[in-house]
Amino acid sequence: MNGTNGDRVSGSKPEEIVVLDFGAQYGHLISRRFRTLGVFSELVPNTITSEDLLKKNVKGIIFSGGPSSVYASGAPSFDHAILEMGVPILGICYGLQLLAKEFGGQVSRTGTREYGKATLHITDHKDLFVKIPDKITSWMSHGDKVEKLPSEFETIASSDSSAYAAIRNKEKRLYGVQFHPEVTHTDSGMKILENFAFEICKCKGVWQMGPFIETSIETIKKRIGGEEQVFCALSGGVDSSTTALLIHKAIGDRLTCIFVDHGLLREGENEWVVKILKESFDMKVIVVDARDRFLDKLKGVIDPEHKRKIIGEEFIKVFAEKSDEMGPFSWLAQGTLYPDVVESAGASGTSSKIKSHHNVGGLPSEIGFKLLEPLRDLYKDEVREIASLLGIPDEITKRHPFPGPGLAVRIIGEVTDEKVSICRKASEIVDQELKKADLYDHVWQSFATVGDDRATGVQGDEGIYGHIVTIRVIESDDAMTANWSKLPYDLLERISSRITNEVPDVTWVTYVVSNKPPATIEPQ
Ligand code: XMP
Repeated sequence: MNGTNGDRVSGSKPEEIVVLDFGAQYGHLISRRFRTLGVFSELVPNTITSEDLLKKNVKGIIFSGGPSSVYASGAPSFDHAILEMGVPILGICYGLQLLAKEFGGQVSRTGTREYGKATLHITDHKDLFVKIPDKITSWMSHGDKVEKLPSEFETIASSDSSAYAAIRNKEKRLYGVQFHPEVTHTDSGMKILENFAFEICKCKGVWQMGPFIETSIETIKKRIGGEEQVFCALSGGVDSSTTALLIHKAIGDRLTCIFVDHGLLREGENEWVVKILKESFDMKVIVVDARDRFLDKLKGVIDPEHKRKIIGEEFIKVFAEKSDEMGPFSWLAQGTLYPDVVESAGASGTSSKIKSHHNVGGLPSEIGFKLLEPLRDLYKDEVREIASLLGIPDEITKRHPFPGPGLAVRIIGEVTDEKVSICRKASEIVDQELKKADLYDHVWQSFATVGDDRATGVQGDEGIYGHIVTIRVIESDDAMTANWSKLPYDLLERISSRITNEVPDVTWVTYVVSNKPPATIEPQ
C-alpha cells in the first residue's frame, strides 16, 4: 500500500495535491485534510524531483513544516525545478521560510519559540483567504521567522509576533503561511486549505474512499501468493476489523483472525469481540488466553517505552507459536493507522519519535512475518468511513479507539492486579455514564487511568489512604491533536462518586485538562 497511492483509483490518474515532507509532525495531516476535501493527496519525501512530480496529475504542492532552520547546514531543501512547473505552491511554517529564503527574503532566529495560539490579522481576502474573517485564532509552532519580505511577494496576513504571517506572489501562485492551517486549533484552517485547493489550484474534488476499497482488495490479492496464509491481529476495534474484512474479501478463508487476550482489555471485551466478528463476518477467529504470560513479563516494569516493547514482542511470540501450531502463516496483518506510524518513528524518518505504538515502534526487529497494513496511510475517521461502506456494524465503527497495549499504558508505574482492576472498573463507569448522558458518540475517547499516587479519604468512620483515579475524556478528529472535553460538572460528579463508591480502594478522582499537544492522549 505504501507508496502505491497512484494506483488507488483505476483508470486516469487522480488530480492530486502533493505534500513535500520536510519533517513536520503534522505533514501527513495536511494530505489527509485534502483527501477529506475530495482531493487525493499524499506525503512524499522532500527529495522528490520535478520529473517524478510531472508523472502525476499534480494540481498543487505543499511545502510542509519541519524542525530545521533554513540556514542550518544540511537543512532539507527541494528540487528547484519544481518552481518552474507552474503549479501553485503553499509553504507552511518551514515551507514558508524556504520560499522566503529562495526569493531573497530574510529569515532569522527569534530566540523565543512562538508556540500555541496567536491572533491572525488578515489583510487580503482574495484567493487564499476568501470568506475568512478579518481576525482568526491560528496555531503557531516556530522558532524562526521571516524578517524581510522576499521580492515580488506581498503580505496578506500578520500576527503580533510575525509581520509576515502569510505572504503571496500572485503571479507565480506562490503562497506561504507561518501558522498551521491543518490543525484544528486554527480557526477556519480547513477553509484556508479548501481555498488553496479550489480557488488557487482549481481542483474538482471528486476523490472518495470507495475507490480505495476496490484498489486495496486488488493490491492485497496481488501481494499474497496463491497458497499463503495470513494472520490478522484482531483487537475488536474498527481498525483491525476493517483490515480483516478487506483481507477476507481478497483471500477468503486463507485469513485467520487471532485475538490475544493479554489481560489488559476493557471489561467484557473478549466475549464481545468474538461474538460480533464471527457472527457478522463469518470469519475464522481464534482466541488465545495469554493473560498470565503478558502480566508476568510486565512485573516490575515501570518505564512506558519498556512496557510497550514487551507487549509488542510478546504479541509477536504468540503469533509465531500459533503459526507453528496451525500454519504456517507467512503474513501478519495489523490495523496500523498513520498516527501510530508518525508517533512511533516519524513517517519519513525526519519527524521525531513521540512514543512507540506497540504495533510499529514496539515490534521486535525480526518478526518472522511479512507485514500487511492496508490502512497505514489513513486516519481513524477515514477508516470509519470505509468500515461503514463495508457494512461493519455501528457497534464496532463507533467504538472508541483502544490502544493495543491496553490498560498497560493507562496504568502509570508497575502494572499490578489491583491497578488493572481499578483501571478497568473505573473506565467502565466512565463509559457507562457518558453513554447515559448521550455523549459517548460525541467524544473521541474516554477512560480512567491510575498510578501510584494516593490520597486520604474517609469511608464510614475510617480514614483510608487510597488510590487517585484520573479521568481523561477528549475530543478529536484524528488523534493527532485533541482537546479535553468540557463535560458538565454534574456528569463529572456522578462519575466521581460512582468510582469512589464502587471501585474498592479509590479515594480521589481527578480530571485531565490538558490538550494534545503538549499532552498525548494516553498517559504512557
Ligand atoms: P497518543 O497517546 O499517542 O494516542 O496521543 C493517539 C491514539 O493512538 C492510540 N494509541 C495506540 N494504539 N497501539 C495502538 O494500537 C499503541 O501502542 C497506542 N498508543 C496510543 C490512543 O489510544 C489514541 O487513540
